[in-house]
Amino acid sequence: MSEQKTNWWRDAVIYQVYPRSFRDSNSDGIGDIPGAIQGLPYLAELGIDAIWLSPFYKTPNKDGGYDVADPRDVDPMFGTLADAESLIREAHAHGIKVIFDIVPNHFSSEHKWFQAALAAAPGSPERKRFHFYDGRGVDGNEPPNNWNSLFNGPSWTRVTETDGKLGQWYLHLFDSSQPDLNWENPDVMEDFKTTLRFWLDRGVDGFRIDVAHGLAKDEILKDHRDPDGLTKALRVDTTDMTKEERVSLLTDMPFFDRDGVHPIYKEWRKVIDEYDGDRMFVAEAYIYPTSRLARYVRPGELHQVFNFDFLLIEWDADAIKEAILRVFDELKEVGAPPTWALDNHDSPRVVSRLKREAKARALALIAHALPGSLYIYQGEELGLPDGDIAPEFRMDPAFIRSGGKDLGRDGARIPLPWSSAERNFGFSDGTSWLPQPANYKEFAIDIELKASDSFLHLYKKSLELRKNHLGLGGDAGITFQPAPSGVVYFKRPAGFALLANTTESPVKLQIDEPAKIIHQSQPGSSVEGNSVTLAGNTTIWLQS
Ligand code: BGC
Repeated sequence: MSEQKTNWWRDAVIYQVYPRSFRDSNSDGIGDIPGAIQGLPYLAELGIDAIWLSPFYKTPNKDGGYDVADPRDVDPMFGTLADAESLIREAHAHGIKVIFDIVPNHFSSEHKWFQAALAAAPGSPERKRFHFYDGRGVDGNEPPNNWNSLFNGPSWTRVTETDGKLGQWYLHLFDSSQPDLNWENPDVMEDFKTTLRFWLDRGVDGFRIDVAHGLAKDEILKDHRDPDGLTKALRVDTTDMTKEERVSLLTDMPFFDRDGVHPIYKEWRKVIDEYDGDRMFVAEAYIYPTSRLARYVRPGELHQVFNFDFLLIEWDADAIKEAILRVFDELKEVGAPPTWALDNHDSPRVVSRLKREAKARALALIAHALPGSLYIYQGEELGLPDGDIAPEFRMDPAFIRSGGKDLGRDGARIPLPWSSAERNFGFSDGTSWLPQPANYKEFAIDIELKASDSFLHLYKKSLELRKNHLGLGGDAGITFQPAPSGVVYFKRPAGFALLANTTESPVKLQIDEPAKIIHQSQPGSSVEGNSVTLAGNTTIWLQS
């Protein structure tokens, strides 16, 4: 029962809208759903197929909306339920599909279930929807196990019982305002099915599943042998750990990628399959080894899983080639299409990570030429760098819980610059929730639309060629060719070839048939017959 080649999501370009920072329609300084609707003509013009919206549900906003207090209602700061319905309608009118974010690992501590659990007694059905346990040690004053939160500090918080005494502890892999749900409790499954249907009935085309690898915790009362090592191994910026140490810690995580997550997705799949219109799920799962990602997209489970390789990859030809081959190899058994992403709201922006705009442009052109579906994070198409943010404006719980040691992710969440001459560069008429750096002016959409060599034009041309002329997102093969050191060289069907030079200096090489450059990440390369001069830090697309 392999998926049909015609499924829209197999080669779709999906644009991530982080609503808070996309566009503000009511001058309160916070982006909102009507603002997202205003941005649709721009997105249609960019050439994307779908949008994925990060959460806009009722939230106390302790973790950028990933702390959901009611998954079936819209937070007033983002608009109304009617706005969410119009967004779906309007996007469809522009030929754009809509993916919402679903957050099943935890609720906000302000969700009515958690409030009821706090008011109820230990052992009550209300508490069994979460992970409440007595503590260890004298008077239960030590947490039930030694796991750390991914946002720093312990993953347990102790509650005060209704009699005013210190009582049980609850588990939160993230912030203390995000209590983990107990997926062994059937109430949880029923409630999420209701949420899926709630949005599917309103016409949503798919869901991105937050922390999809986290729902099953089967050994909760066991200490981990090295919780601090595990926390360190999970951080992408850890450098002082051997590969072996890291692999050994990541290969068996007590709270991620347990077998128990898969029956959950089989159930969800049945729900989505009740609906027509080729709806889909994409899983966010940071796991190791990546070969286990294929388990999430087996027939009868989810449709796509994020591949985070390009979010972390060095600008290095061997690493890039290896990452591409590995993904195809890992997915070949299950028949799911690969996904590619350079940026998202949790990671440093690619321009800042690679430190050079030329490298980011060149890496983008590689991603744009690969089979599968492509995720673009808002502002990536402008080449936005991360911004420096004064500590008083930082809101990320990772920053707060680490006492500022971990700067957190706010630098990648700064509001979009739309228009260079306007207040907040056109993002909002009010006071922006996160100030934009002055240099965001030069990345404003109006400026980039005018400059033919802008990042925006680079992306627009790629997307246009990829979809309308070359069908590059399609399943048809990719063949790597021998190439000089530091160069990526592959071919796709119908005479398409890609060359990328990851070194600083120009490289001369021969290709096996004469071709013309049809797209390039920057000028400076040339082709004469079979002879190519490829500028440093450059990708070119060739057509024979
Ligand atoms: C989301 C993050 C969020 C975390 C907890 C993630 O993977 O992408 O932004 O902080 O889940 O919900």
